[in-house]
Amino acid sequence: MTGRVQGKVAFITGAARGQGRTHALRLAEEGADIIAIDIAAPVEGVMYPASTNEDLKETVRQVEALGRRIVSDVADVRDLDSLKTIVDRGVSELGHLDIIVANAGVAIMKPWNEVTPEILRTVIDVNLIGAWNSVMAGVEHLISGGGGSVILTSSSNGLKAGPFNLPYNASKFGVTGLMRSFAMELAKQKVRVNSVHPGAVQTMMVSQAAEMFERFNEVNPDLVGMFSQWIPGRMPPEEISNAVLYLASDESTWVTGTALSVDGGLANY
Ligand SMILES: NC(=O)c1ccc[n+]([C@@H]2O[C@H](COP(=O)([O-])OP(=O)(O)OC[C@H]3O[C@@H](n4cnc5c(N)ncnc54)[C@H](O)[C@@H]3O)[C@@H](O)[C@H]2O)c1
Repeated sequence: MTGRVQGKVAFITGAARGQGRTHALRLAEEGADIIAIDIAAPVEGVMYPASTNEDLKETVRQVEALGRRIVSDVADVRDLDSLKTIVDRGVSELGHLDIIVANAGVAIMKPWNEVTPEILRTVIDVNLIGAWNSVMAGVEHLISGGGGSVILTSSSNGLKAGPFNLPYNASKFGVTGLMRSFAMELAKQKVRVNSVHPGAVQTMMVSQAAEMFERFNEVNPDLVGMFSQWIPGRMPPEEISNAVLYLASDESTWVTGTALSVDGGLANY
């Protein structure tokens, strides 16, 4: 099937690489134009390598190679004003906005007693307030266009906590709550709001997982054992993009307020 989101416009955060890029490409393949942002720089406290402006340009190149239009810029999801400016520019160039994918996120894994107020604030600011900002930057355009679809990236850790990940668990459970609240209040305006809950995905975010488990093994081997049991393998990011595509398309017109797990059963153990 092709053209599943033909003529729609999607705003995607964290689009320089990983899942954000594959979401942009999957939606573009199916006929959508894209508004893409990424911080394309390090976030304080994050241990794995940051994305770059070159990564964001590569997303732009790949979307354009599919014959779709893309408006992109560097922006931090913690900055609502800059998100609004970019979304408004994208809407004036591309005509309208139908889909918001709040995908940008960070993880800073630590045992509970090594979590500082700064780490907690950073992860909550990016993952939770950043998701709220991403909705607030675009949702008026969905409402004025007669409706649309908002997809929030939570995690299997937004349904079931993972060890050594307190700030992340708190932020992603928060995203699930954000989804349910927005879904309830926006249904009358025909704006659907759902969340996706990936398990372990092959992206830079989990690139150092093996080294971390080795260290955490000294802290609490029982929990590390649990954690490895929860990771039956890492899935390609395209698996999550297929779920995003379904929620973005008119195939899910009556689906709202749903937490959609794509995790190989991870959150079910
Ligand atoms: N990789 C996994 O195993 C996994 C599992 C469950 C959920 N997730 C979630 O999926 C989403 C995408 O992550 P990914 O796996 O593609 O990792 P990733 O690190 O490859 O991509 C995340 C992107 O978000 C961007 N970003 C980070 N902070 C930002 C900010 N403040 N403003 C704008 N952009 C910012 C990064 O620069 C990066 O390009 C995240 O919300 C993550 O929490 C990932």
